[in-house]
Amino acid sequence: MKLTIQNIVIANAKELIRKRRSIRTYKQLPIPREKIIQLSNYFDHFSQNPFEGNVRFENLELEGLSRSEKRRFGTYGFIHGANTFIVGIITKPTKYDYEHFGYLFERVILFATYLGLGTCWIGGTFKRSVFAFQLSLSTKERIPVITPIGIPAKRQNLRSSIIKKVAGSHKRKLWSELFFEGEFENPLTKETVPPYSEPLEMVRLAPSASNFQPWRIIKEKDKHNYHFYINQKPHSSYRIFKYQNLQRIDLGIAVYHFHATVTQMGLTGDWQISKPNIVTPNNIEYLISWNHEERNHKI
Ligand SMILES: Cc1cc2nc3c(=O)[nH]c(=O)nc-3n(C[C@H](O)[C@H](O)[C@H](O)COP(=O)(O)O)c2cc1C
Repeated sequence: MKLTIQNIVIANAKELIRKRRSIRTYKQLPIPREKIIQLSNYFDHFSQNPFEGNVRFENLELEGLSRSEKRRFGTYGFIHGANTFIVGIITKPTKYDYEHFGYLFERVILFATYLGLGTCWIGGTFKRSVFAFQLSLSTKERIPVITPIGIPAKRQNLRSSIIKKVAGSHKRKLWSELFFEGEFENPLTKETVPPYSEPLEMVRLAPSASNFQPWRIIKEKDKHNYHFYINQKPHSSYRIFKYQNLQRIDLGIAVYHFHATVTQMGLTGDWQISKPNIVTPNNIEYLISWNHEERNHKI
């Protein structure tokens, strides 16, 4: 594969997914200018996407603002040392706008990881109105999530460590809680699905709001077709966030991890939104399916 800015994340997908983690404490050092330019260029290279939506990204530089001006952005106390933010904006609503947003924002986050920059998805602890004002957004545009970017500090400060501990950030649910075969009663084991154990493992490692991990996937019996579902069980911290769409963003991230990994591995197939005839528990809703198809020419 010839490496270009468009496919650099795909070419390194598994390595970048394993490397990325939320960074909340940054060194007080400016980001090298060429990295900022590479990031801005990357924003314009949108990848193929199974969802439809209208999204754009902006870099916001807070360097030069006074301490009290920076505090107005609402990240103070949660994020330390970062002066640059990537702001994700939904410019027009569509049916799958939040999934589309999550898919593309994770792609940007993994590109920042490739550049050696730290990031942290922030959907709750920032002042949307202040960011929107600073970027002169129209009243129709929404900011679901932002991320600080910067050089990660060697040690995360005490408050960052506490946030990580409360969210249980290092932990992920077991395969048996997330992945199933044929029906939700029947857990899927890693050993039964190679080569798809890798893309599924990359879904399992994905970041999610409050580390809630709402993705559930059912594999069809005897076929490498994978149906993605969202577990919409209400979560107590959502009352604090007052923001209902974070789990839809989580699903977009999971779909991107799966897509990037199958593409890196040369596995071929298509995304389709077509609900299968599978009985689902109450709070679980269908989103999208990956249907494996052997092809001579890889996509
Ligand atoms: C959509 C979304 C919203 C998030 N919002 C916040 C937030 O407001 N504040 C925060 O400190 N972390 C936030 N996180 C980070 C998660 O807590 C973190 O991804 C999770 O605990 C897993 O840890 P890791 O990213 O280090 O793997 C968010 C993550 C996602 C995907």
